[in-house]
Amino acid sequence: MNAPLTDSPPTPVQDLAGLLARAPLLHEDGVGRLVSWALSDQGLKFIDSTVQGEWATLETGEGVSTLLFGLKGARHICITPNSLVIERINEFAAGHSISMDRVHFEVSPSDDLLPSLKLPDLDLVLIDGCHGFPVPYIDWYYTAGALKIGGLLDDTQLWTVDVLRRFLLDEPEWESRGLVGPRTALFAKTAAVNPKEWVHQPYVVEMTVALSGDRRSPMRKVLSKGKAVVTRGLGHG
Ligand SMILES: C[S@@+](CC[C@H](N)C(=O)[O-])C[C@H]1O[C@@H](n2cnc3c(N)ncnc32)[C@H](O)[C@@H]1O
Repeated sequence: MNAPLTDSPPTPVQDLAGLLARAPLLHEDGVGRLVSWALSDQGLKFIDSTVQGEWATLETGEGVSTLLFGLKGARHICITPNSLVIERINEFAAGHSISMDRVHFEVSPSDDLLPSLKLPDLDLVLIDGCHGFPVPYIDWYYTAGALKIGGLLDDTQLWTVDVLRRFLLDEPEWESRGLVGPRTALFAKTAAVNPKEWVHQPYVVEMTVALSGDRRSPMRKVLSKGKAVVTRGLGHG
């Protein structure tokens, strides 16, 4: 049996306020102490106020967010290799009467599994698993096709995730809905997403021009063309 997750007696948790009050410590730091790497309260509140019971959702990584998806009753896929934390999640849920019946765990690194996983149409994706290069991009790439209306991206203070955030800001198929809390960026998918050449990706073009250090670079023409695509895509031009 694991170390106690909370000092509180096991009482039912019925909503996010109850979950936050218990503040379960599900993760472990480098020296084996129980800690929480949970989304910010604002990020969790967004999920709480947005996700509907009939939604299909997916997250990479696991933790308090997984318990919240359980509480919301959504058909939820949680992809993580961390079976120890899955045990803690299930233990906490059982001790606090949170039904995890509609939560399906895929015990695997998302980067191994997602390329071959058949996904249902998804209403919301939370990318919050491995934040090392290139895993957030793999998570985004292999879930974007299945996403219907919204996507959440966590931990944008990390360089890897911030690059993805900046890239999406310039892509016409994605609309920024701002930050949900201090480090969670929210994007809504507005059109089908297909692989494209880099010249059609304004952020890649912009960074490539910057990298060349040549203000007269012929690539600047591509850049202004790319920006025009973005402007049209967002309905401003
Ligand atoms: C920041 S935590 C997730 C926090 C969670 N969203 C919450 O609200 O509590 C990131 C988790 O990703 C998991 N992880 C690490 N590598 C992974 C991978 N390749 N695929 C999926 N999950 C991974 C780790 O087990 C870690 O607990």
